[in-house]
Amino acid sequence: MITVIQATNRPDSNSEFVSRQIDELLKKNSNEEIGHISMTDMPPEILAASSYEAEHIPEALQHMQDQYMIPASRFIWLLPEYNGSFPGVLKLFIDAVSVRKYDETFRHKKSMLIGIATGRAGNLRGMDHLSGILIHMKSIVYPRLLPISRVNELMDEEGRINHGPTLRTLEDHLKGFIAF
Ligand SMILES: Cc1cc2nc3c(=O)[nH]c(=O)nc-3n(C[C@H](O)[C@H](O)[C@H](O)COP(=O)(O)O)c2cc1C
Repeated sequence: MITVIQATNRPDSNSEFVSRQIDELLKKNSNEEIGHISMTDMPPEILAASSYEAEHIPEALQHMQDQYMIPASRFIWLLPEYNGSFPGVLKLFIDAVSVRKYDETFRHKKSMLIGIATGRAGNLRGMDHLSGILIHMKSIVYPRLLPISRVNELMDEEGRINHGPTLRTLEDHLKGFIAF
């Protein structure tokens, strides 16, 4: 299984739209099952102190972890740039699932990172931040990062990337990761 992890809970985010487009491209290019986790499904109980106890992390989170992380051998992290990094809600998610079935979730799993920003940097810095965390968690990071800058100029009214060169680069990148 390859699981796409969409890193913001902001309503109608560009990342949510692009993550669905990535699901479609993966289905077109791979026979593997595709999982999908979105921070928009993050339950508010994650803020409770009990989230740091393996048996008490919110049920919705246990479900995401059991259904879409433990069976996955690969993750694609879609990272919008918020103040020069990825959104805090993603770190909260990673910390919560890490207290339960850590090795089955992260150890030696392969991760690919895509940054999205309306600015020029394409969240390169946030991808570096998450790479460091994933390596700390014994994961393997695909050694090509894909920054998508000025994403708002590349999308159509339905929220799909319709800029030919960007679309081709995205698809090549996904194919490279599938073969990795
Ligand atoms: C809290 C917040 C901080 C942001 N900081 C940056 C930033 O540092 N650099 C940048 O290029 N864009 C920044 N943006 C714009 C996002 O990159 C832009 O909204 C892009 O579409 C990805 O975020 P989205 O998936 O929430 O739409 C920020 C947006 C928010 C909501």
